[in-house]
Amino acid sequence: MQQIKKAVIPAAGFGTRFLPATKATPKEMLPIVDKPTIQYIVEEALASGIEEILIISGHAKRAIEDHFDSAPTLEAMLAEKHKDDLLAMVRETADINIHYIRQKYMRGLGDAILCARSFMGNDSFAVLLGDDVVYTDGKPALKQLVDIHEAYGGSVLGCQLVPNDQVSAYGVVAGEEISGANLLKVTDMVEKPSVDEAPSNMAVLGRYIISSSIFDILEKTPPGKGGEIQLTDAIKVLAKSEPVWAYNFTGKRYDVGDKLGFLKATVEFALRREDLGDDFRSYLMNLMKQEGKL
Ligand code: G1P
Repeated sequence: MQQIKKAVIPAAGFGTRFLPATKATPKEMLPIVDKPTIQYIVEEALASGIEEILIISGHAKRAIEDHFDSAPTLEAMLAEKHKDDLLAMVRETADINIHYIRQKYMRGLGDAILCARSFMGNDSFAVLLGDDVVYTDGKPALKQLVDIHEAYGGSVLGCQLVPNDQVSAYGVVAGEEISGANLLKVTDMVEKPSVDEAPSNMAVLGRYIISSSIFDILEKTPPGKGGEIQLTDAIKVLAKSEPVWAYNFTGKRYDVGDKLGFLKATVEFALRREDLGDDFRSYLMNLMKQEGKL
């Protein structure tokens, strides 16, 4: 049976990259086509065998809890009008068992993960960052990490190669290659390095399986890059005493915390939709023609 059953989704951040939309709306509730980004993340967790989800919430994030709650008035109206498909859609998100805890002060991703300590106990657990939405047409990204954890033990970081001009946006790993397995044994990690400081181009893209030993380390981790307690710094320490693997996972990842990344996700998810894809594709083709691009 799968050992990784719990996941944490940090969702307390202010979402300053998306102001003014995020002034009163959590960035996790911004929809890609018609589904909030956090629902894509939650669905990936469930499809990867996760049974219990903890969302690290914060100030002005109540809409997330409402989204994963029942909505009796709306449900009654949809039932009365026999809108069964919509009713099923609304109920689907209410059936998921989600727990919440608030991060009271924004001290960084490491501090947010530390808020999950009592929920995780001594279990290894998954982390999914809400800014990273991953599309796969096969095994979900997190499930790929779960499988690596089951085969090799230890902690697993979901990584992909990024170009030089992007390394400064990520936690970047160095490690020894395990031949033929798309796997590195992590020996070093740097949070948001300059091109010169970057130990490689292998960047962590928002998916992790982490051993509970991380909590003792996080307690002692001083503020790092940007004055925040960095998960990357704690994982670097963890790698000295326990195996940490960097796995080059398969899938197309979108940085939906970035405006251009969000637009790309919106367009590509819409193009993949059975109900919208064809019409949207013709619209885009016509638009390109009008712009003289085709
Ligand atoms: C966080 C992590 C970073 C990771 C990135 C993935 O940074 O600190 O190590 O590579 O997510 O998206 P953020 O983008 O939240 O600043």
